[in-house]
Amino acid sequence: MDLNTRPDSMLRITTKELADKFIEEQVALIREQVKDKKVLLALSGGVDSSVVAALLIKAVGKQLVCVHVNHGLMRKGESEQVIEIFQNQLDANLVYVDATDRFLDLLAGVSDPEKKRKIIGGEFIKVFDEEASKLKGISFLAQGTIYPDILESIKQAEGKKAVKSHHNVGGLPEDLQFELVEPIKLLYKDEVRVVGEALGLPHAMVYRQPFPGPGLGVRCLGAITRDRLHALREADAILREEFGKNGLAEKVWQFFVIIPDIKSVGVKDDSRYEGWPAIIRAVNTKDAMTATVEEIPYAVLRHITARITSEVEGINRVLYDITPKPTGTIEWE
Ligand code: XMP
Repeated sequence: MDLNTRPDSMLRITTKELADKFIEEQVALIREQVKDKKVLLALSGGVDSSVVAALLIKAVGKQLVCVHVNHGLMRKGESEQVIEIFQNQLDANLVYVDATDRFLDLLAGVSDPEKKRKIIGGEFIKVFDEEASKLKGISFLAQGTIYPDILESIKQAEGKKAVKSHHNVGGLPEDLQFELVEPIKLLYKDEVRVVGEALGLPHAMVYRQPFPGPGLGVRCLGAITRDRLHALREADAILREEFGKNGLAEKVWQFFVIIPDIKSVGVKDDSRYEGWPAIIRAVNTKDAMTATVEEIPYAVLRHITARITSEVEGINRVLYDITPKPTGTIEWE
């Protein structure tokens, strides 16, 4: 049986009963696989890794060591929130690693999107290797791979041109010394959320919008620079704040800012002002395979534009991407 293919007979998990059954099965499978060994988990704080953490805690308790790597490509305040929720509130076994300089130094001057993805994915594994050797006796690496990640990578293996190599599948080096634990790899995103709620995770965490493994790295287009990355993080925080205030955060599946590596001529304080454009993306989807664009009220867009251009150093224009998937993908890289 191909363990990476979802069987036709597998029911879509839409109810608490189906989620409970899935949890029970996975807990048994994890215990069978892991036995008394230790498991390392990349805990980004997103829905997928949080659900995997909760499943593993249920199955093997303190044998799970969660590692949160701040790769310097997190959204504003995000690493702090991971520490607050998992370490302070959920009392998880959490190791925090600030690897910002390491990632940004490696990425300096790299503009090819696939190379960027590979570097970020590869460096992630290196950091985990190092943490594992410090921790002694780690045998497994748990991952929040979900079914759309597998589907995109299968296309690549079949010789079709994959849309992009997803960080938690395509980026793994071949000499990886851990055995993988991937309990949600046959689930679609909506099912992961149902399972998360059945596990008792907070609603805000379960319904948090997805954030790609390579983080802001694939939204700071081309070669990443610290100043443009900073502008992106600030503009993204403004977008999130305004979507929250205007009731859009609950309504829109995923929304974020992208900053391309181009400048245009603008004007500020009566002087020429060359700056980057901030591009807003706000999409709805069920399974991330296709997506439609949310119609944002014009007044909200105008207000966000005014805030970003006046508050964020280096940005002189705001654009709204109204392209569905296909032909666009959700992310730009
Ligand atoms: P695309 O851009 O392929 O994105 O339409 C579909 C969904 O996947 C997210 N995404 C990723 N998730 N690792 C992930 O775990 C990745 O490398 C990655 N790249 C994109 C993206 O944010 C969207 O929700």
